[in-house]
Amino acid sequence: MSGVNDIRSTFLNYFKKNGHEVVPSSPLVPRNDPTLMFTNAGMVQFKNVFTGLEARPYSRAVTAQKCVRAGGKHNDLDNVGYTARHHTFFEMLGNFSFGDYFKDVAIELAWNLLTKEFGLDKDRLVVTVYHTDDEAAEHWKKIAGLSDDRIIRIATSDNFWAMGDTGPCGPCSEIFFDHGEGIPGGPPGSPDEDGDRFIEIWNLVFMQFEQVTPEERVDLPRPSIDTGMGLERIAAVLQGVHDNYDIDLFRALIHASEELLGVPAEGDKRASHKVIADHLRAASFLIADGVLPSNEGRGYVLRRIMRRAMRHGQLLGAEEPLMWRLVPFLVREMGQAYPELQRGEALITETLKLEETRFRKTLTRGLNLLSEATQGMGKGSQLDGETAFKLYDTYGFPLDLTQDALRQRGISVDLGGFNVAMERQKAEARANWAGSGETATEAIWFAVKDTAGASDFLGYETEEAEGIVSALVVGGAIVGTASEGDEVAVVANQTPFYGESGGQVGDTGTIEGENFTVAVHDTQKKGEGLLVHFGKVTEGTVRTGEPASFRVDHERRRRIRANHSATHLLHEALRQVLGTHVAQKGSLVAPDRLRFDFSHPKPITDEELSRIEDIANEIVLQNAPVVTRLMAVDDAIAEGAMALFGEKYGDEVRVVSMGTSTEKASRIYSLELCGGTHVSATGDIGLVHILSESAVAAGVRRIEALTGAAARHYLKDQEQRLKTAASILKVTPGELVPRLESIVEERRKLERELSDTKKSLALGGGAGAGAAGRQEEIGGIGFIGRVVEGVSPKDLKPIADDGKKSIGSGVVVFVGTSDEGKASVVVGVTDDLIGRFNAVELVRKASSALGGKGGGGRPDMAQAGGPNAGSATQAIEAVRKAIAG
Ligand code: ALA
Repeated sequence: MSGVNDIRSTFLNYFKKNGHEVVPSSPLVPRNDPTLMFTNAGMVQFKNVFTGLEARPYSRAVTAQKCVRAGGKHNDLDNVGYTARHHTFFEMLGNFSFGDYFKDVAIELAWNLLTKEFGLDKDRLVVTVYHTDDEAAEHWKKIAGLSDDRIIRIATSDNFWAMGDTGPCGPCSEIFFDHGEGIPGGPPGSPDEDGDRFIEIWNLVFMQFEQVTPEERVDLPRPSIDTGMGLERIAAVLQGVHDNYDIDLFRALIHASEELLGVPAEGDKRASHKVIADHLRAASFLIADGVLPSNEGRGYVLRRIMRRAMRHGQLLGAEEPLMWRLVPFLVREMGQAYPELQRGEALITETLKLEETRFRKTLTRGLNLLSEATQGMGKGSQLDGETAFKLYDTYGFPLDLTQDALRQRGISVDLGGFNVAMERQKAEARANWAGSGETATEAIWFAVKDTAGASDFLGYETEEAEGIVSALVVGGAIVGTASEGDEVAVVANQTPFYGESGGQVGDTGTIEGENFTVAVHDTQKKGEGLLVHFGKVTEGTVRTGEPASFRVDHERRRRIRANHSATHLLHEALRQVLGTHVAQKGSLVAPDRLRFDFSHPKPITDEELSRIEDIANEIVLQNAPVVTRLMAVDDAIAEGAMALFGEKYGDEVRVVSMGTSTEKASRIYSLELCGGTHVSATGDIGLVHILSESAVAAGVRRIEALTGAAARHYLKDQEQRLKTAASILKVTPGELVPRLESIVEERRKLERELSDTKKSLALGGGAGAGAAGRQEEIGGIGFIGRVVEGVSPKDLKPIADDGKKSIGSGVVVFVGTSDEGKASVVVGVTDDLIGRFNAVELVRKASSALGGKGGGGRPDMAQAGGPNAGSATQAIEAVRKAIAG
């Protein structure tokens, strides 16, 4: 008997030996098909290969594919727990031919695997074919040697497989295992086929068509093969058990919940253990693939699965949150085959714990309400819709949880009444909102949300995905189409585009459908849960309802990610260097730079800045993984996560951590509440360089910084300048500073010398010539009048002082001229003459001769200026005249 892990690898190896490429499972959230809620079959990732849209370097493939069938076309949620073979999560083993082999080889490969590798007794196998498929029937006869009565023709859709309402499809042939006469049930197609005797184990689909719209079906370019065998089913057959939940994998999981709860999986308790084991797998794999519980779309399906499991935990008497404690057992069983479970273990554990902790608060009260409301109700009766809605709205009971809780008592729920109550609540919400004073232009998003529903954000995991255009807004109105040249707002059911928030700018990129292209220049969050792409139709016409590829500008997003993560590193570095009073006041995370505003009372010194930069770069060099988790706000803050004061957070928050630090007890360098997108390891930031530090408001400082290539280019540019400067000075860059210091020193000396020389020139000029030699007398008053070229106004005064000293008694006038043709003038009067002459009056006369006005100073020394240096001698003449009287 082989375990699930052996069976999986035997299957993969068998097809590998037969020329098939082993392709890893694709994520549960399909990137290439917006019509599907979850990947529900192995062929989903190959959908575009079948239709010829996409080429792969192989024409045969084999996979073990993670699948979820809960919500959407294939939905098994309600049955899980009560049957032997329903799962919300299961693994599908499949082999594929893309225009390579067809029916005969597919049948031969399948038959040999089952009868030779797996050693099944051929007498226990029967097959079905589509009623018109003579070819397949013939192959079975020839290859497997099956008699006609074991090749059963089926005319129903059971033997025509389709992925969804659209997509590749074709007739199929199913292989059944006969558990023997001891088990009730008839062969496929017989009235009692639903019994448990004949169990379908493998479905071979002969892919021949593509359902383009629900009405139109076209031939695929080349006939292909898609097969699917539920791993849990074949394991049950090979392990000789009848119930899938008795295979080794499920026994281990159920054993774990039995041990934790001390309740054996027997009697009516078995269903609850089965539910818990199944839902543990579905919830964990969904969380690992990026789905988080929410009230909409995929997140809501996850929440329903989790809450359903939690109710069954409660039924088994769990007094504490249970699901999260089972995660290690799941990781032990399946982590090797699916490493994403190991990588996501912390996120899975915390998400489950959080959901269960919160839900437990209302679960008991809700169940009490339910039991009161249904007291005395018998089989076949109906719970009113109002109560079901109250359970949904107030106690967080998804409708199917209420249905599940009543199922064993045979009570149903009035769905019509439930929907009426739901509609009424929506209308009230809208009315309240309308009165809340938000601007009318924003009201449009309420209407959009009503028709289009919320947008699922896929951008944490991918930057490229398909979505359905769910609404278009042009010129403030909802429209059905938008054409080339239109500025348009596009809303989709899902998108990888990030809507501006938390300082991080919105994504740009393209939306491309079969008949149109929209260039997106911004993405914004609007209303409740809408992601709106703002762009221009650059080609064709886009219509509501059309599928399209949503492609984020990768390079830009990559730079934004690096800048966002660097912001977190700088935030913590600022706190380490400046103190824990540093709190974020705002930020901008753009592709080309980052900006971070924070509280701090004074300028940051260069030395502090350099330490901050060093600390951030040390974490970059750690190349530490960036880990995202979902936590309750209170827990996150208790762990020391930095949150924005005054910011409104939901009950659950994303917490982003990066780097290790010996400074902190938690050893986590940075822990922040953040909804943004980040690098996967700090090394991806490359380099952090702080450009500047400045004040933005009282007590708020701002730093701006660059990362990665932008930082490198900036520093390179700086280096180039350094080199150029050094080469101008004909030194090496290393010698530049001492050289500049000596040049500056030399220049200072020269300036001093020059100024001295000018002064002495002004006072009589040059060596040996005494100032007195130039002096004259006007009516018995000593006088020096001189024009000095190229002397600045501030140098004129000391010259006048010297003049006064050398004259002893008298009046001195110096007019300085500048190269620009302006003049300044200083008049000095020695103290003994102050009674007779006033320097201020004299300088005004000189100034008016220079075309200037006014002048000022004291009676013994005054200064003025004027625009006409050419009239310098006239200015002196004016003073001379005034003295002469
Ligand atoms: N796609 C086929 C199925 O899911 C094989 O059954």
